Amino acid sequence: MTSNTKIMTLTDKEAGTEVELPVLSGSVGPDVIDIRKLYGQTGMFTYDPGYGATGSCESGLTYIDGEKGILLHRGYPIEQLADQADFLEVAYLLLNGELPNQDEKAEFDDAITHHTMVHEQLSNFYRGFRRDAHPMAILCGVTGALSAFYHDSTDISDPAQRQIASRRLIAKMPTLAAMAFKYSMGQPFNYPRNNLNYAENFLQMCFAVPAEDYVVDPVLAKAMDKILILHADHEQNASTSTVRLAGSSGANPFACIAAGIASLWGPAHGGANEAVLNMLNEIGDKSRLAEYVERARSKDDPFRLFGFGHRVYKNFDPRAKVMRETCHEVLNKLGINDPLLELAMELEELALRDPYFVDKKLYPNVDFYSGIILKALGFPTSMFTVLFAVARTVGWISQWNEMIEDPTQRIGRPRQLYTGPAARDFKTMSNR
Ligand code: CMC
Repeated sequence: MTSNTKIMTLTDKEAGTEVELPVLSGSVGPDVIDIRKLYGQTGMFTYDPGYGATGSCESGLTYIDGEKGILLHRGYPIEQLADQADFLEVAYLLLNGELPNQDEKAEFDDAITHHTMVHEQLSNFYRGFRRDAHPMAILCGVTGALSAFYHDSTDISDPAQRQIASRRLIAKMPTLAAMAFKYSMGQPFNYPRNNLNYAENFLQMCFAVPAEDYVVDPVLAKAMDKILILHADHEQNASTSTVRLAGSSGANPFACIAAGIASLWGPAHGGANEAVLNMLNEIGDKSRLAEYVERARSKDDPFRLFGFGHRVYKNFDPRAKVMRETCHEVLNKLGINDPLLELAMELEELALRDPYFVDKKLYPNVDFYSGIILKALGFPTSMFTVLFAVARTVGWISQWNEMIEDPTQRIGRPRQLYTGPAARDFKTMSNR
C-alpha cells in the first residue's frame, strides 16, 4: 500500500468544520479513503451495511475487476491458471505469493499428500450424525473438531505451526468431504492413496468401493482439478471475511475454517450451486423458462435466478466461462446428453437478452454451470457446496495467514448505527 498525495476533504457545513482524510493506493484497482482517524476527529462512524463500499483489509492475494470481468491470483489471470496449472500449484501460489519451481512443487505436493489421512478417532464423529445429515453440517462440525486433534498446530504466533496447520487443512479437507459423502450413502470410508494426485485421490475416496477396482478417469480428474482451481479464492467474499473476522480474535485456524464453511453454506454464496440445480429441476422444461425469468423480474416475488448476479462482477464472471467449457468437455467425454445443460444454456440466453438482467448487469456466475458438471461426475446436489469448501479452504487459509502476518492486524470490531431505545429505567413486572 502506498500513501497517495491525494487528500479527501470532508466538510460539515452546519458546524463549519473540515476533516482531511488520506487516500491510499494499491497496485491496481480503486484507491481507498483511509477513515481510521474519522471517529477520533468527528465523533462519527461510517455506515455501510453489506460492506458495498468498504475495504476491510490490505491484501496481495486476489484482484477482481468486476466491470471488466477480470480475476487475478497473485497477478495471474484465472483463465491461465485453470488452463496451465494444477490445483496444488495454485494453492502454493496463493499461500506463498509465487508459483513454485520444480523442487518447491515436489516438496509441497509431497507434504500435502502425506497429510491426507485423518486421525482414526475422527471417524467416530461421523457415526454420531444421522445418515441423512446434510454433508455441509457434517463438514462444518468435523472441521471444527480438528482443533481437538492437532494441538501441535494451534499456536498461531508460531510460523511453523501456522504452516503445518495450513497444510493439514488443505490436505485433509478432501478426506473429510469424501467421508461425509460416503457416510450419507452408507458406504465404508476410503483411505487416501498416496500414488494419486489431489483431484484423483478425492475422486477415489468418493467413488471407489471395496468390492471392485476403481480406475480414475484422467478427463474427469482434470475437470475436478479445474473446478477446484476456479473456486480456490475470491477476495473478501462473505466466507473469507468470516474466516478473517474469526481469526482476528486469535482463534485457531481449524475453528476459523469451520466458521468459513458455515458462511459458505448459504444460498446467496456457496450454496448457490446446489440451488441452481434444484431450480433447473423445478423449471423442468424449456416452455417454463419465460415464466421463471418473469418471476425473477417481479418486485412482488422474492424468487431470484440462482447462478446469476454478483456483488462485484457487473460483467461475465470469468470463472463461469471456463466452467461452461469444462461442462461441455465432461458431458462429451461421458457421452451424457443432459437436458439440464440445454435448459441452462437457454436460460442464460434468455436472461442475457432480458432488459431487467441487462440493466442490472446480472450475468451468470461461477455457480451457474458447476452443478451440471458435478452431477455428471456422480455427486448428489447436497455435495456441491462441500466441493466448493474443499477448494476454498486454500483461499481461506492463505487469507488467514496474510492477516496474521500483517503487523497492523487487530481484532475486527465494527460499530453500528444504534436505533434501539435510549436509556430508561427498569419496569417491575406489575408495571409492564
Ligand atoms: N435474479 C433476479 N434479480 C437479481 C438477482 C438474481 N439472481 N441478483 C440480483 N438481482 C437484482 C436484485 O433484486 C436487485 O434489484 P433492485 O436493485 O431492483 O432491488 C439488484 O439486482 C441488485 O441485487 P442485490 O441483491 O442488491 O446485489 P448483491 O450484490 O447484494 O447480491 C448476490 C449479490 C450474488 C447475492 C445476488 O446477485 C444473488 O442473490 N444471486 C443469486 C444467488 C447466487 O447465484 N449466488 C452466487 C454468487 S457467486 C458465488 C459465490 O459468491 O459463492
